Amino acid sequence: MKLVEVLDYEALSLHAAAIIANQVRNKPNSVLGLATGSTPLGCYKELVRQHQEEGLDFSQITTFNLDEYYGLAPNHRNSYRHYMNHYFFNHINIDKKRTHIPSGVPQDLIAECRDYDQRASDIGGMDCQILGLGSTGHIAFNEPSPSFEPFTRLVDLDESTIQANGHYFKIENTIPRQAITVGMRFILNSRAILLLVSSDKKAQALERTLNGTVDPMVPASILQLHPNVTVIADKEALSML
Ligand code: PGA
Repeated sequence: MKLVEVLDYEALSLHAAAIIANQVRNKPNSVLGLATGSTPLGCYKELVRQHQEEGLDFSQITTFNLDEYYGLAPNHRNSYRHYMNHYFFNHINIDKKRTHIPSGVPQDLIAECRDYDQRASDIGGMDCQILGLGSTGHIAFNEPSPSFEPFTRLVDLDESTIQANGHYFKIENTIPRQAITVGMRFILNSRAILLLVSSDKKAQALERTLNGTVDPMVPASILQLHPNVTVIADKEALSML
């Protein structure tokens, strides 16, 4: 894994956005794998700026997101579909029909999961996949577990993930405890992976991801097996290395 050390969150966001912008310029019909959470927000903000001020063109781009809360409809203010529209898609010239996010309210859960993997594989996988890192070491919502899970599926969220994401939800008992997440096959099939890690809350998970053994109890450690991973981490995230 290639490690890019940056000073702070601002530098991380600009560096990640520069890589994505290059990808979009070099291959205008790229397939991008996108993540949610607080970490990629600065990257999306910079990409929106480059679209608005420099004409960065997303008209032929296709996107796939990693996950969605189970039970939240696309128009729910805490759904990841709402997050993506609000922070990114509504401000760029992307065709929303080309933006894929698992449905949080599928009629047929098994079919939805199978179809999501099929759509990603039919298109040939992601050209570039953005990932955040959970303090549990999760990537997407693949939480620590006895084995690496290859496929998209419904998962129970770890208590610490529920706590970490809870501040987005005004009423505590509305926080979803389950999500639909892609599995490791979807992630490892990407041609390039960008792992974005900011803040000392992630320092231990990052240390175990980079230096530990490949272990499903630290899900991100599987990235050691991928040939083209760039980790962009700020000083605080690197404090245990
Ligand atoms: P965060 O989450 O960006 O909100 O810290 C990262 C993750 O859980 O993947």
